[in-house]
Amino acid sequence: MSLAKKNLTAVDFAHKRAFVRVDFNVPTKDGVIGDDTRIRAALPTLQHILQAGGCAVVASHLGRPKGQVVEELRMQPVAEHLQKLLPAVSVHAVAAIRGEEAEAAAKELKSGEVLLLENLRFDPGETKNDPQLAADLAKLADVFVQDAFGTCHRAHASTAGVPSLLKPAVAGCLLEKEIEAFRLAFETPKHPVVAVIGGAKVSDKIMVLESLLQKVDCVLIGGGMAYTFLAAQGIAIGSSLCENDKLEVAKAVMTTAQERGVEILLPVDHLVADAFAEDANTQVIAGDLPDGWMGLDIGSQTIDLYADKLRSASTVVWNGPMGVFEMEAFSQGTSAIAQVLATSSCLSVVGGGDSVAAIKKNQVESKISHISTGGGAFLEMLEGKILPGIAALDPA
Ligand code: 3PG
Repeated sequence: MSLAKKNLTAVDFAHKRAFVRVDFNVPTKDGVIGDDTRIRAALPTLQHILQAGGCAVVASHLGRPKGQVVEELRMQPVAEHLQKLLPAVSVHAVAAIRGEEAEAAAKELKSGEVLLLENLRFDPGETKNDPQLAADLAKLADVFVQDAFGTCHRAHASTAGVPSLLKPAVAGCLLEKEIEAFRLAFETPKHPVVAVIGGAKVSDKIMVLESLLQKVDCVLIGGGMAYTFLAAQGIAIGSSLCENDKLEVAKAVMTTAQERGVEILLPVDHLVADAFAEDANTQVIAGDLPDGWMGLDIGSQTIDLYADKLRSASTVVWNGPMGVFEMEAFSQGTSAIAQVLATSSCLSVVGGGDSVAAIKKNQVESKISHISTGGGAFLEMLEGKILPGIAALDPA
């Protein structure tokens, strides 16, 4: 199935109400929004609809309230934040997602105005993709716009159900940008294509690796998962993280890569520690690791090796940290990848919590071609899946 979907230009929004599914699943504490990247990322779509003379019924989930009202997960603070970001627009909020109250609020909406519905996951029908809930949500508008890339891997009522009922169903600006980044990186890429894959576990990334081996020229592996690969090669890994039940999988990935002519690089040296703690004793060791020491970041030789590969790449896709990024002492390998990408002219696509955090920490956001707003959704795209929230949209 093609990733090419109808976009906002396919719709005349004048005097229309658009149901806009956004991903405003942002960190909140005591009613204050932490990182508002996802809210800002939806603004171009909202502005397009409003400037074209339409109005927007905006809906999102926040957290995982499991089908019940959870006071701390109400959307009101998000609506207030959205109002600050769109000072010239009337942003209304309603504490319902279906029924008379929601319908009346949607009906009263005038051209150029925004209504934010209550947390979709307060209703148990949302995560079950309940057809009645989808029908009730579809009643609120004349056209469906999907801009919640971060939630497109969920087949929920608002992501899969509503767009099957409410037509046209098109992609918003953010979703289009996310899809375009994948198309450029994997459908029509400039070679060499290098993937940087990190994170703690091989088991989380098996499908990603299998899919990437069909598409890329080189994979740089880092993070805890590297130790399962090294152990599978017969290298001593001390007390580093190792998934013993994934050693055969790691071997199979290496064999497939060899058969396909894909280069896989593993760390050649390591920042090791004598405990999993910020203040542990550390040293840098190349090759076999002694007992009692665990690898918690890539070493300087590995940074140089990976940096050389990245500098010669035309396309780079990065997901996952090279070490225990949340501990300052073991964050340098991950930061180094962010810095190398910032100085490269390659097409760079980055997704995943720690990788994006490293880009932000190093203040190089503007130097990266595309920073994904998706976590699980980004991973599933890397796995080569067509996400249900994208599949449900009208083909271009
Ligand atoms: C995310 O933060 O990855 C998305 O908002 C999806 O949230 P979920 O994992 O709770 O479905």
